[in-house]
Amino acid sequence: MARRKIIAGNWKMNMTPSEAVALIETLKPLVATEEADVVFCVPAIDIIPAMEAAKGSNICIGAENMYFEEKGAYTGEISPNMLTDAGVKYVIIGHSERRQYFAETDETVNKKVLKAFEHGITPIICCGETLTQREQGVTIDFIRQQVKIALLGVSAEQAATAVIAYEPIWAIGTGKVATTEQAQEVCAAIRTCVGEIYDEATAAAIRIQYGGSVSASSAPELFAQPDIDGGLVGGAALKPDFGKIVNYK
Ligand code: PGA
Repeated sequence: MARRKIIAGNWKMNMTPSEAVALIETLKPLVATEEADVVFCVPAIDIIPAMEAAKGSNICIGAENMYFEEKGAYTGEISPNMLTDAGVKYVIIGHSERRQYFAETDETVNKKVLKAFEHGITPIICCGETLTQREQGVTIDFIRQQVKIALLGVSAEQAATAVIAYEPIWAIGTGKVATTEQAQEVCAAIRTCVGEIYDEATAAAIRIQYGGSVSASSAPELFAQPDIDGGLVGGAALKPDFGKIVNYK
């Protein structure tokens, strides 16, 4: 069975609650499609108004982060229950900005992935190499390690429903998109790695996105690759261009 494409926006730290509502109103008609899952991952404070604004549309509201504990003395964190109670179905885990600025590690990523599954939230698990790693020729080794640690303790049934976002760090927010060949090569390697951890069926089911300066012009070729099942889109997700990315064909 062909995998369904999943195109997700990562709003990062942009959009106040009222701006979020206005942007969703603008994008709603532009991202309408039956051919792909469309997810807007928004700042925590925007989740509830965004849910309300997206009602009756094909837009699914997701979160950008989540803590791995259930509740308690963790000032400033958001629990999985808070997300599910608000209707959230997807959460980005381990974005490179969280690894870089907020000290997330492969181990905390794994804890969050396990917790998300426990609560029925689909994790969008991010991985990606630095420019130095790419130049040193260790990209595939590095990505395999990130993926293997992120999926420790995750069952095959769960992994089959997960989303992995391959985002080369040097391509994020830089306008420097990976070539189609580079993106396909790493996404294929991730699928192979998932096949090694689990089995062929799990590898065939898991959805793998490319992220990093995806634009309306680069999306069609990227998303046509055999192992690229959509994208995680930052900057372009805040503009009407996101409609073109979603309807890339
Ligand atoms: P970008 O961000 O599309 O602005 O490069 C992608 C991401 O960080 O998810």
